[in-house]
Order: sequence, then C-alpha cells, then structure tokens
Amino acid sequence: MDIRYVIAIDGPAASGKSTTAKQLAKLLHYVYIDSGAMYRACGLKALQKGIKLTDHESLKEMLSHIDIRIEYAPEGNKIYLDNNDVSARIREADITRLASEIAVIGIVRERMVELQRKMGEEGGVIMDGRDIGTVVFPDADYKFFMVADVKTRALRRWQEATEKDEKLILEEVEQELLWRDKNDSTRKHSPLRQAEDAILIDTSAMSIQQQVEYIYQIVREGKCMK
Ligand code: CDP
Repeated sequence: MDIRYVIAIDGPAASGKSTTAKQLAKLLHYVYIDSGAMYRACGLKALQKGIKLTDHESLKEMLSHIDIRIEYAPEGNKIYLDNNDVSARIREADITRLASEIAVIGIVRERMVELQRKMGEEGGVIMDGRDIGTVVFPDADYKFFMVADVKTRALRRWQEATEKDEKLILEEVEQELLWRDKNDSTRKHSPLRQAEDAILIDTSAMSIQQQVEYIYQIVREGKCMK
C-alpha cells in the first residue's frame, strides 16, 4: 500500500495481536514491529548481566548502550540483542515473566519508547504491544485493541507450545496469563488499556483470517481515524 500509515495494535497476551500484525504487514507491505520482543530482550540482557530489577543505576547504564535489532525474515522477524540472535530464547517462560517484570520500570519504558518511535517515524509500520496507541504513537492513523476470553487465550498459547513439542499444563498457562494481565494493567507507567479512539476487536470466536481481513478492510477503505 502506497500510503505509509502507522497502525497500532494493543491488547493482552495471546489476544491475536502478533499473528494478525504479521500477516497484515505482509499484505500491506509494511514493517511489523513486535514491541514486546524489545521488553523481552531487555529482560534477557538484565539476566545475562546479573542485574537486579531494583538496581536502577545499573539498569540505566545497561539501557544506555543496549543494541536491539529487529530484522524481517519470512518465517517471522528475528530479534538480535548485541548482535546475537535471541529470537527463540526470549520466548521461553522465564523471559516471558521477566519481560513483564522489567516493563513496569519507568526508565526501561522511556528507553524502549524512544527506540520504538525511531523505528516507526517513517510510517508504513504496524506495531503491536500494550501502550502503542496510548503512549508510543498516540497519533497513530489506526488503532486497534484486541481482546479474547482467557480460556481461549490459554488454549492458543498451549497449542503453540505443543506444536513446538513443549509440554505445558493448560491450567498453568491460564494462571500465568492472568498474572501477566494483572501486572501489565495495574502498573503505574503506561498500563495496558484501550486508547479512547481504538477500535475494539474481540477475537474469541474469530479465525486468524477473519481478524486480518477485518483490519485490512478498515485500512484499505483509507478512512483515517485522525
Ligand atoms: O506475545 P505476548 O503477548 O505474550 O507478550 P509480548 O507482547 O511479547 O510482551 C511481553 C511483555 O512485555 C508483556 O507482558 C508486557 O509486560 C511487556 N510489554 C509492554 O509493557 N509494553 C509493550 N508495548 C509490549 C510489551
């Protein structure tokens, strides 16, 4: 698509954001940026350096020269932390929790938002996360907020893991999602919430194709929300 919109997709974990954003980016020839991967990379770096999340001085130092790169690959974006491919490592359970824990820290968010704005400044970008429509790009051309009931979300995550031969217990996946929802939506800095001008999409009973099609049609119509 010739017009270089900024499209923000927010919502809780496993609500369908990243799968939808990825496919939409392909259709529109836009860049897809997974902001969650950046918090995950931050968590991993803190872990590697043995920095406690209460030690804001060391975190600040770490953030001043953190090198996070997102590169397109047909099978899914690759995430590089200090030139190392950490795409698989950052999806592991310990980093998933650590990402949510580090994402409550104001100085971490400020740095990530700065990098995210830079990545999106030329438009033609779809960014998904928790605060994209509220904080990172409050003037985004299109904002969507995706939700789904927790049982559906847990099943999606469980199925993804099973396909990768990871053995998870469905109830534990659900508990972890509930913990993360609470941590992400009750934090002081940029809590997860729907922007007032975002379009709400409940994906509980939608297929991936339906989700993609729904947003694609809205964007193709070219009616900017601004
Ligand atoms: O893929 P999933 O939805 O499970 O998580 P993610 O998008 O990779 O995000 C991991 C964690 O990073 C979330 O639980 C949030 O705590 C944090 N995050 C955030 O605070 N702000 C964003 N824009 C994106 C993610």
